[in-house]
Amino acid sequence: MSVENPHKIDTSKLDEILKSFDYKKSNLIAILQKVQEVYRYLPEDAMIYIGTKIEGLSPATVFGVATFYAQFSLEAKGKYEIKCCDGTACHVRGSMPVLNAIRNKLKLQDGQMTSDNGLFSLETVSCLGACGLAPVMMVNEKVYPQMTSDAVSIIIDTLMKEEGLN
Ligand code: FES
Repeated sequence: MSVENPHKIDTSKLDEILKSFDYKKSNLIAILQKVQEVYRYLPEDAMIYIGTKIEGLSPATVFGVATFYAQFSLEAKGKYEIKCCDGTACHVRGSMPVLNAIRNKLKLQDGQMTSDNGLFSLETVSCLGACGLAPVMMVNEKVYPQMTSDAVSIIIDTLMKEEGLN
């Protein structure tokens, strides 16, 4: 009897990834990177699955590794991944008001990093390598220099409009 996966994790896709890394414990980081590339985050069910499929691992070990490395996200990311820099150069030039403007615009509660409609996710980073343009924000691969609260509003409104939202 087959049981439908409530989180729609495609185990055949996971098997494909695991196979390409020989189901090896030593390849766990690379496996998680690949899974994150596919899902844009590490779904809980995927980590459990990996933990039961690789010899010498357990779901708890996989969770431990996934939470240790900052590169891994355990929360679903939006179609638009916003990175707001709060490194020194950006901080002194006003990154906090920018960050607050993004949070307000997306109606993100404390600790929430993805908007309710699932379109936008927000993370703060410590440098985007464009300090001369501070404060800086990125949406996916695009860099937005010298950000202000008003600019945040315009950019997010534009993206929402492109998605057919107001
Ligand atoms: S500190 Fe913000 S880009 Fe470097």
